[in-house]
Amino acid sequence: MAMVCLSDFEAYAKKYLPKIAWDFFAAGADDCTTRDENILAYKRIRFRPRMLRDVSMMDIRTKLLGTEISFPVGIAPTGFHQLAWPDGEKSTARAAKAMNTCYIASTYSTCTLEEISAAAPGGLRWFQLYIHCNRVVSQQLVQQAEALGFQGLVLTADLPYTGKRRDDVRNGFRLPPHMKLKNLEGAFEVCKMNVLDPSVTWNDIYWLRSLTDLPIIIKGILTKEDAELAVRHGVQGIIVSNHGGRQLDGAPATIDALVEVVEAVQGRVEVYLDGGIRKGSDILKALALGAKCVFIGRPALWGLAYKGEEGLQDVLRILQDEFRLSMALAGCASVSEIGRHLVQFSKL
Ligand code: FNR
Repeated sequence: MAMVCLSDFEAYAKKYLPKIAWDFFAAGADDCTTRDENILAYKRIRFRPRMLRDVSMMDIRTKLLGTEISFPVGIAPTGFHQLAWPDGEKSTARAAKAMNTCYIASTYSTCTLEEISAAAPGGLRWFQLYIHCNRVVSQQLVQQAEALGFQGLVLTADLPYTGKRRDDVRNGFRLPPHMKLKNLEGAFEVCKMNVLDPSVTWNDIYWLRSLTDLPIIIKGILTKEDAELAVRHGVQGIIVSNHGGRQLDGAPATIDALVEVVEAVQGRVEVYLDGGIRKGSDILKALALGAKCVFIGRPALWGLAYKGEEGLQDVLRILQDEFRLSMALAGCASVSEIGRHLVQFSKL
């Protein structure tokens, strides 16, 4: 089967993954309105492409908090990579490094942070944190990530509780016994009732700041009010995200929320986006509306399900080629030429 676009990887994953794993990856909350809207919203945006602008030499590189990456797509944090491929997050780390981009490793990884680091030494990695009800567990994870050379701390803000994903409830989803949340082993006994702390507030950013010198990036922001609070609390980056539509059903598509966040932030911190990125022109639209970089969640899992590290590299390479082509067809030879003028704003 020729793998031409990301939907081909999706179809492969759907066909070959065990149903319980596919359902877990695909799940959205409730009616999946927000999950689906993340994708549909891109289809409503039209370009204003410019012509005759010498696109013979293309530069698609960008920087994430000062570190260069090969193109503006990184890997969003997702849990349980061993459900997709036996080597799990180690393969993800290797693919991200090979493609010279950023991998945000989840608290819910099925490999330890040490294993992830050792698999791809020197790769650009951020660590995604869910704050545990036992703060000592979170503190240790943050400090371990920093010691291992992770270069950013991503605090996920949109999961005080897990959204209701109907297929997971129907399937009685749980990790197979031979897979473990390796970074939280032992932590569950300490706090059986509710492992994640729903009492987290903005003040906890100051607590995180007291633990680490890493830049803090907050993930899950969808409004100008929260964007302003994030800046005021001293974060270095914001990921506009609705958790792939897995949390509050009815939350806006991330590409629709991006504009108000970018306007509120006024360049004071970097703004990124995830949710619904499935082709190169989606990336171009997100950058045109002010994202510095986008991240992919499910497509990375489909790549892993296809062929592990190699499959994920294929996914990234396809996105890279499509993005380069979209840029050229829109008349942009470098990422710095991408701006709001590229989209028909009146139609948004
Ligand atoms: C996620 N996401 C997520 N986010 C996070 O901060 N920590 C996590 O552990 C997870 N786990 C996770 C598992 C699975 C199976 C999915 C699909 C998603 C959310 C993820 O980081 C991201 O916001 C979305 O996946 C982006 O949407 P797309 O690219 O999947 O459409």
